[in-house]
Amino acid sequence: MKHGFIGFGNLAKAIYRGLKEEKGMEFAYFARSKKEEPLPYCETMDSLVAASDVLWLAVKPQDLSGILAQLKECDLERKTIVSPVAGKSIAYIEHYLGKKQLVVRIMPNLAIAYRKSVTAFTANRPNDEKAREIFALLGKLGKAVELEESGFDLFTSIFGSGPAFILAFIQIFKEKMQEFNLPGPLLDELLLELTQGTTLYFAQNQKDYSIEELIRNITSKGGTTQAGLEYFRTQKIGNHFEGVLNAARKRSEEMSRNGG
Ligand SMILES: NC(=O)c1ccc[n+]([C@@H]2O[C@H](COP(=O)([O-])OP(=O)(O)OC[C@H]3O[C@@H](n4cnc5c(N)ncnc54)[C@H](OP(=O)(O)O)[C@@H]3O)[C@@H](O)[C@H]2O)c1
Repeated sequence: MKHGFIGFGNLAKAIYRGLKEEKGMEFAYFARSKKEEPLPYCETMDSLVAASDVLWLAVKPQDLSGILAQLKECDLERKTIVSPVAGKSIAYIEHYLGKKQLVVRIMPNLAIAYRKSVTAFTANRPNDEKAREIFALLGKLGKAVELEESGFDLFTSIFGSGPAFILAFIQIFKEKMQEFNLPGPLLDELLLELTQGTTLYFAQNQKDYSIEELIRNITSKGGTTQAGLEYFRTQKIGNHFEGVLNAARKRSEEMSRNGG
């Protein structure tokens, strides 16, 4: 499968990194400017399209219309267009490329580089053989889930932005740990162990216990965890955190409305 990246920024690099160990893959990219990258650079959009089976639209939402206007002039027969662009619908892409063009819309996160992304998938022809190939590929790069397009805004707030929100939570722990007077990198190592240990505890028990039960199992009556969780409940920290997810979802909806 020949992959052509239109734009080679953070996300395209992560996808490339996740895909490059797969057998039978070839890669090339086109961007505003040539960079020192380990894959061929195409001087024109036309040459990238000619060299690719799958075209990844890896540009910012505000740059998408210009890219689609250029793509429209290329021979896209038998090509698969894959768009991870936040807030831009399949209908928006079809408006430029036509309804006959196979368009796959996905929402991955940067963990795709480590083959650990949770990726939403939809397509204008989800059962097309080429669309199924993309779905299967995404399954190798983490967990892929087929989702109605109307669910993409919520999905983006949880799984697209999720890594940043979880890190922001860990940062609160780190700031609290400044009292220990330990070097910063050691604090990071300790927090990494904490999060890996927690993930492992979740992973090992997730089939048999709900998250609520897992919390209960590590909460002794009258102990420190219970005191903290009581504050969590009475101060409605959960509701505040839900506000973070709602804000992200609202932004995704706004982006969809502004030309989505
Ligand atoms: N980053 C994430 O975690 C993430 C997660 C899910 C979805 N997404 C989506 O993925 C898309 C890309 O995000 P990103 O973080 O990778 O952005 P980025 O790092 O800013 O990269 C954008 C790339 O687009 C290229 N570009 C911009 N205008 C262009 C043009 N007219 N012609 C050719 N190339 C052009 C840039 O090239 P130059 O460097 O040469 O200007 C750059 O390589 C966004 O739409 C975002 O919504 C990102």
